[in-house]
Amino acid sequence: MAGHRTLIRDANVVFPDRVAQTHVLLADGKILAVDADRHQSADEVVEGAGLYLMPGVVDDQVHFRDPGLTHKEDIETGSIACAAGGVTTFLEMPNTIPPAVDRATLAQKYRRAAEVSRVNFGFYIGATPTNLDELKAAQDIPGIKIFIGSSTGNLLVDDQSALEQIFAETTLPICAHCEDEATVRANRERLGEPLRVHDHSRIRDAAAARIATARAVDLAVRHLHRFHVLHVSTADEIPIVRGKAPWVTGEVCPHHLFFSVEDYDRLGTLVQMNPSVKTPADNAALWQALLDGDLQVIATDHAPHTWEEKQRAYPDSPSGMPAVENSLALLLNQHVQGKCSLPQIAHWMSDAPARVWGLVGKGRIAPGYDADLVLVDLTLERTIDHQRQRTKSGWSAWHGVQLRGWPIRTWVGGRTAFRDDEVSHEVRGTAVRCDHQRGGYWATPDGIGT
Ligand code: DOR
Repeated sequence: MAGHRTLIRDANVVFPDRVAQTHVLLADGKILAVDADRHQSADEVVEGAGLYLMPGVVDDQVHFRDPGLTHKEDIETGSIACAAGGVTTFLEMPNTIPPAVDRATLAQKYRRAAEVSRVNFGFYIGATPTNLDELKAAQDIPGIKIFIGSSTGNLLVDDQSALEQIFAETTLPICAHCEDEATVRANRERLGEPLRVHDHSRIRDAAAARIATARAVDLAVRHLHRFHVLHVSTADEIPIVRGKAPWVTGEVCPHHLFFSVEDYDRLGTLVQMNPSVKTPADNAALWQALLDGDLQVIATDHAPHTWEEKQRAYPDSPSGMPAVENSLALLLNQHVQGKCSLPQIAHWMSDAPARVWGLVGKGRIAPGYDADLVLVDLTLERTIDHQRQRTKSGWSAWHGVQLRGWPIRTWVGGRTAFRDDEVSHEVRGTAVRCDHQRGGYWATPDGIGT
């Protein structure tokens, strides 16, 4: 592909501060020019009139189950779902089997992804109470994941002195799953038996989220450590995260925006997630926090389990739902309904996560950035259907929901990874490069462009 040039002509291009109809030239995997000459010679000319060109989505929270749980998903199937959904970069969580808690296991994941992943990739290292040396030695990865509160798998660091040490002695940015174990256990005991899925939000309640998030943010503030709160699920957590320190950021998932406790009757364990879904008032507060800039990132927590596993009676049913192939469409549909702008979506889903994790060349349409792009059609209406899902888990909690606004073409490193409903077999992503010196959400974005 060396020397290959693509000219995307007349598309409405989504920049951080505006949408403008213009021409974008891609060459050698990069964005060579915006406002390019309309008649520029190129190997391929894509007519974008009437369509919208956005930076590819950077989903910083996915579980692709590879290795160890590949009957649910694997890196190849997860990445195929990404390409179809407009996600050009994923950052994957360490709760695989074996868990990614050392450099050797991480290196295997990176090798596997280089072989099979259709989009770009990065892998977090998981914290345990005893792997401080690995956390300190790990390099060239986005960051450290701590489960402060257990979820799928057995990664948990709850002990205060272990947490203090991790925040004090490591340098990579940290993200955490924040649900307080003691609160969750006490709620579980108080509720007794029998339990039904509605109880999931009483066991993993707002207090559990609030207590753990406050504890983690306190650690980050005291230790001046870059920290990202994953899947904020309650209104209560917003003031805990908001403006706390320039190095503290927060994230919301589509299921915490669009599902609530009112959906258990209809969807049962399909909406069983950790953190649990909360109230409609929480949905509204989280949406407002995104609009206000108090929370910065939208990512999916794509957590596939098979349909059969999800059909088990609660509490034997696992927590998690797949989402990478629908997340951008869910947000585009909000735009079509007048709830947000396209630059806001590009910020929450591309630019902000790229900055949080110091991803070099990701998140924007600007010269020198990587040609990771998604072309969307805001007039296309489609109903989410279990049968059409590319995730190996083969279902969606949004089955039957009609959305307007869908990705129709995705470029990864300047090559077409998805087009005409087909994901390319040939295209492969590459490992993200992380510049943690210059990165950081509040750092000047130009600093990590190229
Ligand atoms: O519901 C969830 N499932 N939340 C998590 O944080 C983990 C995930 C999983 O891996 O299944």
